[in-house]
Amino acid sequence: MAATDEEHQVAGQDTATTTGRIRPIVTLGDEVLARPCRPVTEFDDDLRRLVDDMFATMYDAPGVGLAANQVGVDLRVFVIDCPDDELGSLVGHVVNPVLETPAEGRELEIDVEGCLSVPGPHTDVPRATHVVVTGYDVSGAPVRLEGHGRAARCLLHETDHLDGFLYLDRLPRKQRKRVLAAYEAGLDDFVE
Ligand code: NI
Repeated sequence: MAATDEEHQVAGQDTATTTGRIRPIVTLGDEVLARPCRPVTEFDDDLRRLVDDMFATMYDAPGVGLAANQVGVDLRVFVIDCPDDELGSLVGHVVNPVLETPAEGRELEIDVEGCLSVPGPHTDVPRATHVVVTGYDVSGAPVRLEGHGRAARCLLHETDHLDGFLYLDRLPRKQRKRVLAAYEAGLDDFVE
């Protein structure tokens, strides 16, 4: 998920800690974004390198979350470094994520959202307010990430990527058309 200016300042603090290399981000129209990614089966050095590179790429963009298919890799992995509305911030990575929405998180909240693979526009998207993602880290150990507000939104956005969906797919048809038109026109400051 693309960062707002405020989020950029938060995420940018950790830039120096990553050892990864920046990879090119694929954009709207690339078929790797439009189909479900494959589950990870090998917890090896390639996976570790992928996660390091994804952190470097996310911080460079800057973004608050990034899914593996956004760097052209067809695997179920995402990274996140996003402000959390209750816990300060949520930083981590998840391999083979499974998403749950606790009953108290099912209320929808509308907030602005953008995507590094649809660079430029931001628009309002309704999302659940509290979600839990379980999965594994790069060494195969179980992990559990819990997000509230902005971080919940980001966990939903990145999990959607791995299922082959963009935030555009969550929009009513007319809103989607307006956002796409702004994207195609290169309107970097479009917010609706
Ligand atoms: Ni995105």
